[in-house]
Amino acid sequence: MLKVRTAVLVSGGGTNLQALIDASGRGELPDAELALVVSNRKSAFALERAEKAGIRAEYIGKDGFEQKLGALLDECGIELIVLAGFLKILSADFTEKWPGRIINIHPSLIPSFCGEGYYGLRVHEEALKYGVKVTGATVHYVNHIPDGGRIIFQKAVNVLEGDTPELLQRRVMEQAEWILLPEAVEKVAKEIRYGKSC
Ligand code: GAR
Repeated sequence: MLKVRTAVLVSGGGTNLQALIDASGRGELPDAELALVVSNRKSAFALERAEKAGIRAEYIGKDGFEQKLGALLDECGIELIVLAGFLKILSADFTEKWPGRIINIHPSLIPSFCGEGYYGLRVHEEALKYGVKVTGATVHYVNHIPDGGRIIFQKAVNVLEGDTPELLQRRVMEQAEWILLPEAVEKVAKEIRYGKSC
């Protein structure tokens, strides 16, 4: 059986994409093939990371985004979609076509600091403003509710005295996101490839 052809959707720097590329290079994604990277921002550095790794990289602009994305995913035979710092909300029409086949990484312990408007640095700003002592990251399935799909993995990270949003973001990435995302991609790809009972 072939590996699960996987598309990664990005909007920015792409450190989570890089974690997937590196994990794949170390042989830690035996059931997933990183086949396509799509950005909704032309200048996303993630596109360069993909090209450097020899992965097809495409930018799709605002006009007809989901229609064009759907056609590209079909053309590439994609079976699994990973949102890795993808900051556009996908419509219910789109997510309903991919049940159990889209996963997302979010930089907090859902259900805290999540939902529409909570993305990137803003999540860590709000966590610090609230004064939580523990935050973290969550990988979850994507449905029509922003950050509302079933949780796959979570990992807690301590908030430290003197943290800034930038420091906290970096710690959450290093201690949680870059570890959890490859593990989740492998778990879901394996289930798609061999069925849930394996
Ligand atoms: C990551 O922290 C990711 O969890 C977050 O954006 C950052 C992207 O970084 N995603 C969200 O906030 C989604 N709601 P990256 O481009 O370096 O991977």
